[in-house]
Amino acid sequence: MNLLSVINEKVGAAFKTAGYQDAQTLVRAADRPDLADYQANGALALAKSQHQNPREVAEKIAEELKKDSFFSEVSVAGPGFINMKIKDEELTKLAAPILTQEKAGYERVDKPRTVVLDYCGPNVGKVMHVGHLRSGNIGDAVRRIMTFAGDKTIGDAHLGDWGRPMGLVLTELQKRWPDMPYFKADYKDDKGYQVPFTLADVIEAYPVASAKAKEDEAYMEQAKNYTRELQEGNKGLRDLWKKFVDLTKADTQDLMQQLNVHLDLWWGESTVNDRCNEMIERLKKSGVAELDDGAWIIRQEGDTPPLILVNSAGASMYAATDLATLEARMEEFKPDVVLYFTDARQSLHFAQVFATAKKTGIVPENVKLEYQPFGSVNGADNKPYKTRDGGVPTLRFLIDSAVQKARAKMESGEIGRDLTDAEKDEISHTVGVAALKFMDLMNDKVKNYIFDEDRMLATEGKTGPYLLYAMVRMKSVLEKLGKPKDDTLTITNPAERKLLLNLYTFPENVQIAYDNRAPHVIADYLYKLCQDFNLFYHDCSIKDADESTKNSRLNLLAYTLKVALLCADMLGLKVPNKM
Ligand code: ARG
Repeated sequence: MNLLSVINEKVGAAFKTAGYQDAQTLVRAADRPDLADYQANGALALAKSQHQNPREVAEKIAEELKKDSFFSEVSVAGPGFINMKIKDEELTKLAAPILTQEKAGYERVDKPRTVVLDYCGPNVGKVMHVGHLRSGNIGDAVRRIMTFAGDKTIGDAHLGDWGRPMGLVLTELQKRWPDMPYFKADYKDDKGYQVPFTLADVIEAYPVASAKAKEDEAYMEQAKNYTRELQEGNKGLRDLWKKFVDLTKADTQDLMQQLNVHLDLWWGESTVNDRCNEMIERLKKSGVAELDDGAWIIRQEGDTPPLILVNSAGASMYAATDLATLEARMEEFKPDVVLYFTDARQSLHFAQVFATAKKTGIVPENVKLEYQPFGSVNGADNKPYKTRDGGVPTLRFLIDSAVQKARAKMESGEIGRDLTDAEKDEISHTVGVAALKFMDLMNDKVKNYIFDEDRMLATEGKTGPYLLYAMVRMKSVLEKLGKPKDDTLTITNPAERKLLLNLYTFPENVQIAYDNRAPHVIADYLYKLCQDFNLFYHDCSIKDADESTKNSRLNLLAYTLKVALLCADMLGLKVPNKM
């Protein structure tokens, strides 16, 4: 049960009594909260389909609704909207049964699904940058929303650990440390051997190797051979490769953990190597793949360019790996939906992969493949964000910098005045990360946004710190003033009513966020909830109120905290106890 379903039922019944069967009621929270709590737009569509006057239809339904003592006011506005105001006693009566539920009134309408989400997308040999904040952050928030809504979710990092870049890194490492045992003809294993390189060396090696290979034919030849030998299973190369893959993975896992981004799986492109080769052979044999100028391609519908499966040098391509990965995911998880989170530049790639997966039967027709692109993070000049020296900022730099700034705010006494040093360390991390994450999640994900470190860390306005501050306050007031003695509510102030009504719209907002894979809907909702809470906190004293009002306000506060924490969790924001 939730407030929307209660009202929907009443409006549905009124439609019927007024003589309109099976019409859509189209009930939702009012656009103009100054005029109404909820509105029903169904009379408009109905009148149109039956060639009747919409206002007359709306009036007839409104007459029925007026008989229901649940509403304090029912009226028709504009061309035929039905506006409804709910009686305070009815609103307060519903609070305990709805808001104390585990999901605060959220109910799923359709069947839960199994969903694989592909996000984070780190590449071995490349440093994680600002783009990987978006993929991990948005992908994980969508996973959290879908999990909350009841789906079985699997988040996979899809580590870029295969192909030519690996051959290039291997080549450069061989040039720098030729004495490593991995290159010896009689190599057996590397038990007890400490590699001489660090992650920084690996990340440096890749662009250097890439540049050298372009100029130096022999170098390129070595890289190609290493790539092939690695894929064929050369033990020395595999063991060395595993060393630097593990370094990258550990580093990425640390970053994701710092961001509170959860992944269930760390499958890599290499995971499907054998499967990929088999798949390619199959597609060649069946005639789906065609030989074109030495490359194996799959033609697409319309004017979409062909998908390249194997290039003319014989290497299997990015799209081939994605097809094989889909095959593996179907076998392992039988998902109903697979979602991909990358920046908007990969739309052609996914269009080709999805169409081919369906055409070849790798993915059955009824399974949904969804590309969820996101915009870029820009600097003040509206171009992709750069550091002061013109470089692309690494993800680690972004996190460290946000945390340092949060810490500086504590030193200057703007926040966290009463904290110990150890608490400051921990909480500045939580606050800095929340600032970064919330700025990234609060806008519609397809849009670009401007990275503004000062703004994202402000304690006023639509920011992570503002939200955390409000939630910390909710926690601390509840802690200080004790538990309410029962779960009853009364409304004595407009701020209470506004907050309560907003709490009831939680389920609708979750549904919109779910349907549109849109964390910003939850971000927006949480922001408004915190604003309503702050107004309530300002206008309604708890401490000095009489016993029953105090009890009621503590309940309202407890419900607000509960819903706010559910939202924070969907956004992957940690909420400290102090700040
Ligand atoms: N590693 C890729 C990149 O950096 C992103 C991976 C996206 N996922 C996928 N299944 N292709 O561009």
